[in-house]
Amino acid sequence: MNDLHGRRIVLGITGGVAAYKAAELARLLIKAGAVVDVVMTAAGAQFVGVATFQALTGRPVWQALWDERMANGMAHIDLTRGADALVVAPATADFIAKLAQGRADDLLSTLCLARDCPLLVAPAMNRQMWQNPATQRNVAQIGADGIAVLGPASGEQACGEVGEGRMLEAQEIAYDLIASLQPKILMGRRAILTAGPTFEPLDPVRGLTNSSSGKMGYALARACAEAGAEVTLVSGPVSLMTPRGVRRVDVQTALQMRETVKSVLAGRRPNDIFIAVAAVADFRPKSATEHKIKKGAAALTLELEANPDILAEIASLPDAPFCVGFAAESRDLATYAEGKRVAKKLDLVVGNLVQDGLGGDDNSVTLFDTEGSHALPPGDKLTIARAIVRHITNLLEKNCASN
Ligand code: CTP
Repeated sequence: MNDLHGRRIVLGITGGVAAYKAAELARLLIKAGAVVDVVMTAAGAQFVGVATFQALTGRPVWQALWDERMANGMAHIDLTRGADALVVAPATADFIAKLAQGRADDLLSTLCLARDCPLLVAPAMNRQMWQNPATQRNVAQIGADGIAVLGPASGEQACGEVGEGRMLEAQEIAYDLIASLQPKILMGRRAILTAGPTFEPLDPVRGLTNSSSGKMGYALARACAEAGAEVTLVSGPVSLMTPRGVRRVDVQTALQMRETVKSVLAGRRPNDIFIAVAAVADFRPKSATEHKIKKGAAALTLELEANPDILAEIASLPDAPFCVGFAAESRDLATYAEGKRVAKKLDLVVGNLVQDGLGGDDNSVTLFDTEGSHALPPGDKLTIARAIVRHITNLLEKNCASN
């Protein structure tokens, strides 16, 4: 994924054992398309060598305020000019204290003070240093100053203790950085999504389900969270990581999914968005047996009953939220997708032709709304999810303007 294509990121490294994770972070940022300039404090360079970052980024590493390689002698200003973000990972307790006080006694702290781009810091320290009231005061101060604090995580520490203070994993920091760069077009809104299949039990070990990886729903939950929405993801059984910043509620059956969605939407707000991505089983066994069904009979007849259509029910509520549905069809996409939009009274339907099977990382979709159909360029599911979020925002703005 090219999430950071065309972006320049300054990566600051201060003196903590977690500096070794910064090498992985640099690699991930470059893999995502960024140009990365590394700035190390003297203590940072004690933990990981300059040569490592030079080799990873293919660019010089900066350490001193008075670096002669900077023609105008203004490394403290030039490095962050035009940068998209400055990320300090790891950020020690001492460095956070410096930021809180606005001190500028080395290149990295001076860059932080003189920057004109967002600053994100990933604290890394022993749990007692983290819990110390002085550190907590400083963290609250930098948060109030508009600096994003990523983590820390809880777990085993380099000193052998267990607790809060561990730096987030490189992947999580990269994820948060990418999210911070997305436009906050859903700020102040709530998004409730369903994703994955449902599983309708037949006996203690068997059930009816749909083929669904949940990837599209999870990508959309991530895109909504990146856009600033408060996101609840009601998920059927899938093996996917919960996107950061998303509240996930696990369910198994369609009835549980419906009850969970209804209870989240019970305290409905005018700005809510409901996006039904789940492949809900249309039918469930009329009754599940308490014990395993044994083979032996020559044939078995299952009696099924219909599950409720969660999306249609929500869309027909008085003061219904803005409702988005999905239509995965094997033919006549426009007819079926548009038919579902009208029949279920939806604001938007995302349609796709299931040709190459389900569960891949890429997708190709067409959006259907009151103004017609809009084909999106094919792409990975996150890129498509972000485009869907943009389309939803445009429709919401038009709705606002016409009300
Ligand atoms: N959906 C739902 N509850 C159901 C069935 C579907 O919320 N019981 C939602 C899906 O999450 C999706 C949309 O409705 O957003 C379309 O689902 P789909 O199964 O394709 O449509 P159906 O109306 O069930 O039509 P069919 O199975 O006949 O194609």
